[in-house]
Parts: sequence; structure tokens; C-alpha cells
Amino acid sequence: MARVALVTGGSRGIGAAIAKHLKAEGYSVAASFAGNEEAAAAFTEETGIPTYKWSVADYDECVEGVAKVEADLGPIDILVNNAGITRDAPFHKMTREQWSEVMDTNLSGVFNMTHPLWNGMRERKFGRIINISSINGQKGQFAQANYSAAKAGDIGFTKALAQEGARAGITVNVICPGYVATDMVMAVPEKVRDSIISTIPVGRLGEPEDIARCVAFLASDDAGFVTGSTLTANGGQYMT
Ligand code: CAA
Repeated sequence: MARVALVTGGSRGIGAAIAKHLKAEGYSVAASFAGNEEAAAAFTEETGIPTYKWSVADYDECVEGVAKVEADLGPIDILVNNAGITRDAPFHKMTREQWSEVMDTNLSGVFNMTHPLWNGMRERKFGRIINISSINGQKGQFAQANYSAAKAGDIGFTKALAQEGARAGITVNVICPGYVATDMVMAVPEKVRDSIISTIPVGRLGEPEDIARCVAFLASDDAGFVTGSTLTANGGQYMT
């Protein structure tokens, strides 16, 4: 039987590439999304991957969503915590809402999604948790005190949980993408974006597929000895 993978924020951007790539590798894949119903419907029509609407920022919705996916596809073996948002502002202009929205989705969302799946993975003695952090969680970024804090938190979460999962056959890893050509990065003002691209040694933005291939490796049986690791995929922009 095919392993079951759930990708949060999986109907657009990096998440969509991950979902499609895992499906092409033979996994049974589900994608969650928070808001854009039109994009999700188009994605399901194009790929045949079922999409489910809930907010990763809401614990109860995550519990319900996971139960729905498992009723349809079976126990989830692979969780890709990809859903994320930006609310960029220099700190002197950042509001409490901008802080909380980003923390609730990008950090608490990872707790909210992983927690309901954890005991099942422990009982079945297999699991793959793959968290999508960011280069900006490693190096910090002007106007992203909220985002950088949440994404750095995802790295700490990964390292702690990897220790707890190790004896139960669960690996927990984190990928730190650099700047990838998605709606999120294209929303950065063009002038700022061009100056960022000039600092990327490979000379281009990443493609969503660059990240999907990293996920496929970490999800595979070949990666059973890889846990608690941080995989950076950023075109050389920041070296850790
Ligand atoms: N470093 C230093 N100073 C900077 C700066 C930087 N990177 N960016 C802007 N500034 C300066 C500006 O030059 C300006 O200075 P002056 O007042 O002296 O002119 C000052 O900061 C404030 O600028 P603004 O008044 O234009 O600020 P604003 O309130 O309009 O905010 C912004 C603009 C939100 C900062 C905008 O420039 C922006 O979006 N920057 C990009 C932030 C970024 O990289 N976000 C990443 C998004 S993609 C992502 O997050 C995916 C991922 O994981 C990689």
C-alpha cells in the first residue's frame, strides 16, 4: 500500500510542487489549504490530489482535518508542514496582529499539525515530519522580526522532536529554502527583490521543484538515518 503524505499549504507555491512530486513518486497525497478555494479546486482538477480546507493556526480544525484525511486515505505517514504567511513590516511599524498572525500560522501551526499525528506515528513505529522553515529563520531579515522568529522556532522544534521520535522510527527534519519564485516572493517590491537576487551566488531565484526534491529525499526510506537535520537550499545565499 502506498504511504500517505499530507502537505499543508499544498495547493499553491512550494507546497503544490511538493504534493505533485510526492504523488509522482507513488505516495497517496492530500493537500490542505486555508483560504483560496479557487486555486485549490484548480489544483485538484489538474493533479487529482484531494484538497481540504482548514487553518493550521486553529488546533481544533487541525484535529478535525487530520481525521478527515485519515478517513479518506488511511493513516498519515508523512507530514510536510509547509503552510506559511508573511506580514512584513519594519519593527517600529509592526502591529501585535502582524506578530500574532505569523506566529500562529508559521510556528504554532507546526505544533497544531504535528501533535494530532504524533501518537499514531509512534504506535505504527514510522513517521516522517518535514518542516519548511526559511533562510530568514537562519539569518534574520529586515522587516521580518515575526517571520524570522517563527521560522527559527521551527528549527528548534525540529531538533527537539527529532530526539523524541528517534526510537519510534519517526524522523523529523527541517528544510530552509532561500528565495523561491512563488507568489510570496513575487509580492516583495521589484527593486528589493532584484537586490536580493544579486546576493544569490547561483544568480537566480529557486524553483518550487528545487525544494520538492529535498522533501522527496527526506520522506524516502533512504533517509532513515537522517533526523534532526537542517537542509539548506538557497543557491548559496547563506551558508550554515
Ligand atoms: N536593509 C536595510 N534597510 C532597509 C531594508 C533592508 N533590507 N529594506 C528597507 N530598508 C530601509 C528603507 O530603505 C527605508 O529607509 P529610509 O527610511 O531611510 O528610506 C526604511 O528601511 C523603511 O522603508 P519603507 O518606509 O519603505 O518601509 P515600509 O513600511 O514601506 O516597508 C518593506 C517596506 C516591507 C520593508 C519592503 O521593503 C519589503 O517587503 N522588503 C522585503 C522584506 C523581505 O525580504 N521579505 C521576504 C519575503 S519572502 C519570504 O519571506 C520567503 C522566504 O522565506 C525567503
